[in-house]
Amino acid sequence: MLAWLLFPFLNFISFTFAQDEYILKPISETWIDDKSCTTVALVFSPLQNTTFAVVQESLQNNITSRALYVESNPSVRLCAAAVNYRDEILQNALLSEYSVIMIMAPKVLGTVKSFKKLPKNFEILDIGLGCGTFRTFWRSKFTSVSITSIEFDPAIAYIAKTWYGAVESNNSKIIVADGVEFVKTNTKKYDAIFLDACTNSPDSDLICPDPSFLKDDVISQFRDSLKPVGCIVMNCFSLKSVGKDILIQRVKTTFERFFKFCFLLKVKNSDFNKVLACTNGPLPLEGIKNQYVIDYFKTVPPYTLIVESANTTTI
Ligand SMILES: *[C@@H]1O[C@H](CO)[C@@H](O)[C@H](O)[C@H]1NC(C)=O
Ligand SMILES: *[C@@H]1O[C@H](CO)[C@@H](O)[C@H](O)[C@H]1NC(C)=O
Ligand SMILES: *[C@@H]1O[C@H](CO)[C@@H](O)[C@H](O)[C@H]1NC(C)=O
Ligand SMILES: *[C@@H]1O[C@H](CO)[C@@H](O)[C@H](O)[C@H]1NC(C)=O
Repeated sequence: MLAWLLFPFLNFISFTFAQDEYILKPISETWIDDKSCTTVALVFSPLQNTTFAVVQESLQNNITSRALYVESNPSVRLCAAAVNYRDEILQNALLSEYSVIMIMAPKVLGTVKSFKKLPKNFEILDIGLGCGTFRTFWRSKFTSVSITSIEFDPAIAYIAKTWYGAVESNNSKIIVADGVEFVKTNTKKYDAIFLDACTNSPDSDLICPDPSFLKDDVISQFRDSLKPVGCIVMNCFSLKSVGKDILIQRVKTTFERFFKFCFLLKVKNSDFNKVLACTNGPLPLEGIKNQYVIDYFKTVPPYTLIVESANTTTI
């Protein structure tokens, strides 16, 4: 009798625990008023005290963009994935140029000699899961790659798994943890670290990376978490109309105190993003210059962005 009474009670406890991490809201409460967009889900995050919206918009050729927005900073599209007419995520498609550049950066810096011949034990640390863009892409293209994603908000982890097809496997986990704390205690060595962790505070001058990642002890730990030819690649994003280049340049200068080579890679289609890539390994060519890296980057195997051509990105 007692067990029978306890059982539903325990169930209720675990149910409310899970619900504490994310709360589904009726889509009628959406703040997205663009008529061409459909709100698919609204998820409240108690951790960040704000609501995330999964929003779909038809692109072309039966391709739909499934984007993620946050109520606390509504002008920013956090991330997006391409979806086909069967409602399936196109795993090897990338919707934003900055994510293409981030994925190409390890090749530019010489960490990856050839995407066709990635070492079997290639290991990636992916901080800031978002829509799961990086892990989904890497896993779809390179099955041998092991990728560990760190996401600090359980609501985002839930969103990525539910609407963006982010799946886990033995060698690619999604860990809900604070990226800064994870890195500080990490003892493993990675080939590449992708940092796309942003603040959702509209008052912050620098939105990505979240300023908590720019402290000396965190950056030195990033350096120590890389294999000898490893690299760290991050999304730098600011909405400040005046001074954003200086802010982003300052991120580069800060990382240069810990890394021999840092490059800011331009994102052609965005005034707000730049990709910073740093390594302590040897560069692929002698005496490489920042501009040269950008030119070299243009020569790496062609990719097409789905927004521009409605076909998938290839590298
Ligand atoms: C959560 O955000 C709302 C506004 O969106 C605010 O009124 C409320 O005070 C906030 N709660 C906490 C605990 O910060
Ligand atoms: C577009 O979607 C419809 C179903 O909505 C499907 O019948 C058709 O084959 C699709 N066309 C292409 C080119 O994928
Ligand atoms: C994953 O790991 C578990 C336990 O270590 C093992 O039983 C399982 O076979 C593994 N799965 C794959 C696909 O390797
Ligand atoms: C992708 O788009 C490009 C440019 O529009 C085109 O040249 C190419 O043939 C397309 N590839 C496929 C597989 O559809």
